[in-house]
Amino acid sequence: MTEAEAYDAVVRGRRSIRGFLDKPVPRELIAEILGVAMRAPSSFNNQCWNFSVVTGEALAAIRQGNTEGILAGKPDSREFRRFDGIAEEHRFRQIEIAKQLFGAMGIARDDKDARQDWVLRGFRQFDAPVSIVVTYDRVLLGSDIAPFDCGAVTNALVNAAWSRGLGCVINSQGIMQSPVVREHAQIPDDQVIMICVAMGWPDEAFPANAVVSNRKTVDEAVRFVGFDD
Ligand SMILES: Cc1cc2nc3c(=O)[nH]c(=O)nc-3n(C[C@H](O)[C@H](O)[C@H](O)COP(=O)(O)O)c2cc1C
Repeated sequence: MTEAEAYDAVVRGRRSIRGFLDKPVPRELIAEILGVAMRAPSSFNNQCWNFSVVTGEALAAIRQGNTEGILAGKPDSREFRRFDGIAEEHRFRQIEIAKQLFGAMGIARDDKDARQDWVLRGFRQFDAPVSIVVTYDRVLLGSDIAPFDCGAVTNALVNAAWSRGLGCVINSQGIMQSPVVREHAQIPDDQVIMICVAMGWPDEAFPANAVVSNRKTVDEAVRFVGFDD
């Protein structure tokens, strides 16, 4: 296999994983994955990212606190800026992936209980054995660079995990009640919570894990400028 073929196999093969085996992930393997991920580029080589790798009782407390807060109607307290006006083609894609996932799981459109159950799974980080909370240095709060660099390292992280047989889902639901995450993951005050990544060994029997999401075509997304042809 060429280097390009090996790389493409990981990138094209990776899918978000939302069903995990009840099997621990070795700490050394997570450290190895993060070491590879941190080869990601960053602005001025700032490397403003930090990671809190959470499992066991601490993760159980985060799941519980996040879920309880949401069920009690506590407002979203994520530390990143949201965009609430999602519409048109972006809304279409959101609905498209939801339809794919619900279809795979056999959740009917009018089955409110099953839909609620799915949403709660998301808030529990899909019961993954590990959650990696990605944060950035607070001194960079307000810049767009810090989220950009966190995105680069998070993409590298999910691909490095996939290449080792581990599955991930980048999961903004899991940090909805960010004070709970901050408390139980013991996030230092000088770090801002960007996102979390649920990680574990994929459960091959979990239907949603087989879903392959769609992408825009290169023709739709790309303009070539200044080329002869
Ligand atoms: C910033 C970010 C936040 C996400 N949050 C969630 C989430 O809360 N719940 C979820 O099920 N998937 C979440 N996802 C996963 C996306 O739905 C998924 O990446 C997208 O549908 C493409 O599918 P794929 O990862 O299988 O290629 C998130 C992805 C990103 C990049």
